[in-house]
Amino acid sequence: MESTAEKTVESSAQAISIALCGKGGVGKTALSTLMVHGLMQTKKRILAVDADPAMGMTLALGAGRPKTLGQIREHVIQVARKRDSQETERVADMVDYYLLESLVEKEGFSLLAMGRTEVLGCYCPVNSLLREAVETLSASFDLMVLDAEAGLEQVNRKVLRKVDNLVVVSDPSARGFHTAGTMKELVESQSELRPGRIGLVVNRCEPGSEKDWEKNAQEQGLELLGTIPEDERLRNMDRAGESLLDLPAESGAMRGISSVLSRLALI
Ligand SMILES: Nc1ncnc2c1ncn2[C@@H]1O[C@H](COP(=O)(O)OP(=O)(O)OP(=O)(O)O)[C@@H](O)[C@H]1O
Ligand SMILES: [Mg+2]
Repeated sequence: MESTAEKTVESSAQAISIALCGKGGVGKTALSTLMVHGLMQTKKRILAVDADPAMGMTLALGAGRPKTLGQIREHVIQVARKRDSQETERVADMVDYYLLESLVEKEGFSLLAMGRTEVLGCYCPVNSLLREAVETLSASFDLMVLDAEAGLEQVNRKVLRKVDNLVVVSDPSARGFHTAGTMKELVESQSELRPGRIGLVVNRCEPGSEKDWEKNAQEQGLELLGTIPEDERLRNMDRAGESLLDLPAESGAMRGISSVLSRLALI
């Protein structure tokens, strides 16, 4: 059988990307996993990218312990150091090969885990090879959901040149909200990081507070994409290390995510 990556190798369009960012612990991993869950109903080809070395999204997607891009990178660097520069082409072929090897194909989505990518220090040629390889791979998918670390630099440098939908996640605290505003300013001040659309999702919201958040977001110049309620089931499943793909569609968090995805015109 053809692999997903081979199927559409000739298609040049990039997947529509959605990246989540926000301060530590606000729910990026939980919400990015639920986005994959919500998008699976579209039957589109989905690539989940776990860009956090802690690999929480991989766990939340019930995807086991895949070989990571960081491990591949290390391997390629070791080989590249031994060979002379004329062998660059071979190294590029190796990157493609290992990238496919690290792609976990599950029912309804595929996953790429970045793992730790700074172990051997900066090695820019390999970073850009990897980025190009991820970009080529993403052309075989319709949608790409990225769970990033709190910062965005790593997404930009190592995974993607361009993010279509940047979702800033905040908790309902004033400080969390302030950080979200700062993050937006930071993104907008970096010319290389121009997301197609940037919006806010307030997670763990109290029922009835949605209107207030709408107003607050407007004041910060942020588009409120939606609010997600505190969801006890999600919390318990996460605590037990269960796959969040089993969270029922009628749960509060899934309903919130669906409304965010439809606001982004993705479902
Ligand atoms: N809507 C929610 N209802 C209940 N619990 C939630 C909700 N969203 C997130 N959580 C819980 O909050 C904790 C932190 O969530 P998560 O790991 O997704 O945050 P994060 O932003 O990815 O953190 P980090 O910055 O460490 O990567 C987890 O225990 C998760 O189960
Ligand atoms: Mg996380």
